[in-house]
Amino acid sequence: MLGLYIHIPFCISKCKYCDFNSYKLNLDEKRKYLNALQKEMKFYKEEVRGKEIDTIFIGGGTPSILNQDEIKFLFDNIKNNFNIKNNAEITMECNPGTLTLNKLKIMKECGVNRLSIGLQAVQNNHLEYIGRIHTYEEFEENYYQAKKVGFENINIDLMYALPNQSKKDWIESLEKIVKLNPTHISAYSLILEEDTELFKMYKRKEFDLLDEETDIEMYQYTINYLKSHGYNQYEISNYAKEEFECKHNILYWKCENYIGLGASASGYLNDTRYNNLCELKKYENEINTGKKPIEWEEKLSIKDKVEESIFLGLRMNEGIKFIDFYEKYNIDFKEVYEKEINKLNKMKLIEISDEGMILTQKGREISNSVFVEFIK
Ligand SMILES: C[S@@+](CC[C@H](N)C(=O)[O-])C[C@H]1O[C@@H](n2cnc3c(N)ncnc32)[C@H](O)[C@@H]1O
Ligand code: SF4
Repeated sequence: MLGLYIHIPFCISKCKYCDFNSYKLNLDEKRKYLNALQKEMKFYKEEVRGKEIDTIFIGGGTPSILNQDEIKFLFDNIKNNFNIKNNAEITMECNPGTLTLNKLKIMKECGVNRLSIGLQAVQNNHLEYIGRIHTYEEFEENYYQAKKVGFENINIDLMYALPNQSKKDWIESLEKIVKLNPTHISAYSLILEEDTELFKMYKRKEFDLLDEETDIEMYQYTINYLKSHGYNQYEISNYAKEEFECKHNILYWKCENYIGLGASASGYLNDTRYNNLCELKKYENEINTGKKPIEWEEKLSIKDKVEESIFLGLRMNEGIKFIDFYEKYNIDFKEVYEKEINKLNKMKLIEISDEGMILTQKGREISNSVFVEFIK
């Protein structure tokens, strides 16, 4: 399997909770950036020649900030440089407030077959408080436009544990979104990242954080509510109708290869993980001097790969299969990790079968403490 991730690091304005690599839109910068991306693709063209791309994810920032010509330019270049599988999953992240019917039409023409729309909450007071540029009504209009253009596979991003968000508000978000019947829902619990406006507001005591117990209660509610409406949880924060799991994300969690292009993008090719430079100027300068814009790279040892496969694999509800570890890394998983398995099993954090291992619900709630047990 081979994936392609392209980062579009521009947004209309910065949401207060967000620490993703994104900059306030500057039209001149956007043009220069797309030219740099075009050159960066050429660096990888030869490296993956003969291989087919199974999944493409255009993420951000706000990819739907690109105008129609830019969307076409981006996909023309992807097609000129890479060999894309016929039934490849091609996702574009979109933000209400930047999406139009004509942009959606161009995306469809370019082969995009999955949209991921960031909404976060259905109440306009919450959207405003966290710095979103759109209302719920604008989102809904975009959602129906997308359906009209023929997009059948749509994800909606939601967040819970937001400042001043009650359990009732969260339930309302879930109910309203389920009524729209998207194929996929991502529901993230707010992470208060340092260096964000929200963090400063918290430090100024402008709001209280949700206690851990209520956070877990909301998480449990989400899993059960979505399950009863046909959405299976297949990863810690991801829920999908049958057959609509995001193939691109699964590729990450299964430690498959992917090319990462754009400022701050990461990739994994030839046993090597790499991360691109974040700053736009540095990223572009490096490319313009004929070099890949890589900030750091690391060749993974077998030990690194095994550990990554464990903690990424355990994020998924299907967990990990022992046979995969034998075939990929030539290790008897149960023997190597006997002590850790026994300990976690006793604590009821994992469930073991002859074939593999999964996290229990309790394990999922404190997944990080399970993962560290496997880091030797
Ligand atoms: C790559 S981000 C950005 C996607 C898109 N630009 C948008 O805002 O809709 C994807 C999702 O991550 C989630 N997210 C971003 N920052 C977060 C945070 N601090 N805590 C929890 N979830 C977060 C949001 O739901 C967001 O839609
Ligand atoms: S639109 Fe998305 S990427 Fe941009 S600041 Fe908001 S959450 Fe971050």
